Amino acid sequence: MNCIDSVNGRTRIFGIIGNPIEHSFSPILQNTIAKEMGHNHIYVPFCVEKGKVGVAIEGAYRLGIEGFNVTVPHKMEVINSLYEIDTLAEQIGAVNTLKKTDKGYKGYNTDILGLDMCFKTRNIQIEGKTVVILGSGGAAHSAVILAANRGANEIYVVNRTIENAVKITNIVKKYYDTPVFAVGYDKLNDLHKADIVIQTTSVGMGESADNSPVKDCSFLNNTEAVVDIIYTPWETKFIKDSKKAGCIACNGFDMLIFQGIASYEIWNDIKIDNTTANNIKERLTEYYMGNG
Ligand code: ATR
Repeated sequence: MNCIDSVNGRTRIFGIIGNPIEHSFSPILQNTIAKEMGHNHIYVPFCVEKGKVGVAIEGAYRLGIEGFNVTVPHKMEVINSLYEIDTLAEQIGAVNTLKKTDKGYKGYNTDILGLDMCFKTRNIQIEGKTVVILGSGGAAHSAVILAANRGANEIYVVNRTIENAVKITNIVKKYYDTPVFAVGYDKLNDLHKADIVIQTTSVGMGESADNSPVKDCSFLNNTEAVVDIIYTPWETKFIKDSKKAGCIACNGFDMLIFQGIASYEIWNDIKIDNTTANNIKERLTEYYMGNG
């Protein structure tokens, strides 16, 4: 493929804003989806300084850029530049997708939709289940709102710093009646149930690649499914321990792909069928395994 046959006067422009942005997988992901769908789109990375999101968005709107993904550190700051915000994004307090409307950009959070798809594609119901969330950073916000919104029976937020876990439980309490508890890792094996576990900490990647946030995984004995949001390494220690315990285990790559597909669906007002979504996922997994 070259520019002559891929970009012309009718090309619709999308992008991602973040800082840093050069390692983002989203340009590859979104341009692959557009190619698979046969759409005349291009998706490019934009490095935007903290504190400059407002002017960047204003300019982007004037330029007619149709949609954005938003990544670290702008997912909260960007909310001030929106014309409207989707309900789930508002509850999470973070936006990762902007869609151009006649009056400004509307903000969504597709991280939560991507996480939801990790369960849906494996026929795992959240409704009625005990959901355990490890960590209380940005990703835990999406996990906790997903669990409450999809009708979990109860939610445990487990964290090293208990005050941060309490902050997350307070967000749930603001919007939902779901019983939600903040606990330390020392209480994990006392939980009476942990049907679904979502690992949202950074432990298991980078310098802590040989580590897991959980030392003793006996609490996983009756767990149905585990999602670890990390995908580098492909299998964290926690994912390996979950598999040993007999759980269905999913790394963060599915969530990454599905959040991208969900953004694409919002921008184009379409639903991508499961076969196409799986083709996209397979192509990108192959690419990632070869280059990641
Ligand atoms: P995010 O990118 O999701 O916002 P973050 O703010 O870096 O990530 O949050 C990381 C999460 O990983 C936090 O819950 C953090 O626990 P604290 O609130 O106690 O800081 C957790 N985390 C980081 N290092 C950890 C470690 N060594 N053991 C346990 N939890 C850890």
